[in-house]
Amino acid sequence: KKIMVLHGPNLNLLGFRKPHIYGKETLQDINGEILEKSSKLKVRVEIFQFNSEGQLIEQIHKAHNMYDGIIINPAAFTHYSYAIRDAIEAIEIPTIEVHLSNIYNRECFRAKSVISPVCLGQISGLGKEGYILALEKLASL
Ligand code: DQA
Repeated sequence: KKIMVLHGPNLNLLGFRKPHIYGKETLQDINGEILEKSSKLKVRVEIFQFNSEGQLIEQIHKAHNMYDGIIINPAAFTHYSYAIRDAIEAIEIPTIEVHLSNIYNRECFRAKSVISPVCLGQISGLGKEGYILALEKLASL
């Protein structure tokens, strides 16, 4: 099995971006834990981070026929990117949406995801653990 992990905009700033909300760990720390888990589960994982919508969409297109699952934290694009939503819908690969914070108990604009209707499911508010749980699920499919 081959799983793609996609981190959206500003997630490269993890560690010093609002640590009380997003945690003290850097993206590198989180990616290290994802890779550690992937070797235990014996699945291949490739991880990408992009700040632009176009690059995220191009990477989603590349998943077609290449990956068995996608874990995506679309960050702020979650709330308004119909283009990312359409890309996920088009490639027909099981996709799990992950958010470090609970998007339902913050600002009103975060309480809507345009991405979740085209995903297998969503994990929100469990911190970095969300990526690990999503990986376990996709590995078990
Ligand atoms: C986030 C939540 C989004 O609302 C926000 O724009 C992010 C991170 C999260 O992981 O909690 O950048 O996706």
